[in-house]
Amino acid sequence: MIVLGIESSCDETAAAIVNDKREILGECVLTQLEHKTYGGVVPEIAARAHLDHIEDILEETFKKAGVAPKDIDAVAAAAGPGLIGGVVIGVMAAKSLSLALNKPFIAVNHLEGHALAARLTSDVSYPYLLLLVSGGHCQILIVKGVGEFVRLGTTIDDAAGEAFDKVAKMLRLGYPGGPMIEKLADIGDENRFVLPRPLLNSFDCNLSFSGLKTAVRKIIESYTVDGNIDHAILSQKDTADICASFQKAATDHLIYKLKKAIFEFRIRCPEGKDLVVSGGVASNTYLREKLKQLADTEGLSFSAPPIRFCTDNGVMIAWAGMERALKGMYNDLDFKPRPRWPLDEKAPKAAGAGGVKA
Ligand code: KG4
Ligand code: ZN
Repeated sequence: MIVLGIESSCDETAAAIVNDKREILGECVLTQLEHKTYGGVVPEIAARAHLDHIEDILEETFKKAGVAPKDIDAVAAAAGPGLIGGVVIGVMAAKSLSLALNKPFIAVNHLEGHALAARLTSDVSYPYLLLLVSGGHCQILIVKGVGEFVRLGTTIDDAAGEAFDKVAKMLRLGYPGGPMIEKLADIGDENRFVLPRPLLNSFDCNLSFSGLKTAVRKIIESYTVDGNIDHAILSQKDTADICASFQKAATDHLIYKLKKAIFEFRIRCPEGKDLVVSGGVASNTYLREKLKQLADTEGLSFSAPPIRFCTDNGVMIAWAGMERALKGMYNDLDFKPRPRWPLDEKAPKAAGAGGVKA
């Protein structure tokens, strides 16, 4: 079986073709650089860029894969959650192909794309414990199967990636902030600044990053004369030390809450043996190392998608589409793209195997 996947929910226009032998036949990702000037993704600019590039990306993906459109078995697209202008463009492209080729359409939850990506590249079996950390989401989940998620914890304010981006913005490091923070943290002293560890006294697995962000703001403010952080006088060493201290605090917080989640996972799924991390923040090598240590200590096996499949890409959507296609989980062509779409919500009505319905 061969599935095409399309991703357009944020600032990447991407597509990929995978087969059921877990081979990536072709893939193409275009990261929109237009947003750098604004320090964050501007939805209308993103939508226009998706519109400009989607056809070329699809053509290039088929070319790289050496597959003719008629030879694919299903067309999947990220149908939410995300910036709706972009989501609609990817979904429309997928539905048009589905109709023209008479192949089934699959509406993939973007978060399910992140959640299942590790199963394409590593031997991870259900059920597994997942830390999903991206720019818009931060959750700890048990993944029991395709479309079967139990959410153990979620952020009560900012997502982890959002916190990296906001701290980077305060330090004027550009967007996206995560990669720059990681780079500077590498040469910084993680013990120089004392930052809070959030929610230490709560028994649940929820997360919080806004206190950390405020604590960083206060440190930066202490380097100003008039309290205006745009005029903070920070040396490169100060900036690197702030990045390292923030990265450590954010990672410690994730590990602390994951320990609670592992306890819960063991009770609910004694047969489970994998800890997986995914989403853009999972590209962070420091976090990956700490998670590996945690998994080793807890007797779990640790997996993460290769770094290029952590940030948004078409491969993860094609693969989630494949997992759905193998179970005959197709969608009607009247499926409405969803700006919000909780992962642990009951699956939307499926059309059944082979169902291409206009
Ligand atoms: O999954 P993703 O590409 O898009 C969303 O679905 O949100 O994640 C993007 C997020 C951004 O917030 C970015 O700063 C963060 O992932 N990120 C990182 C790193 N690379 C990307 N955060 C920390 N360290 C990194 N190396
Ligand atoms: Zn994402």
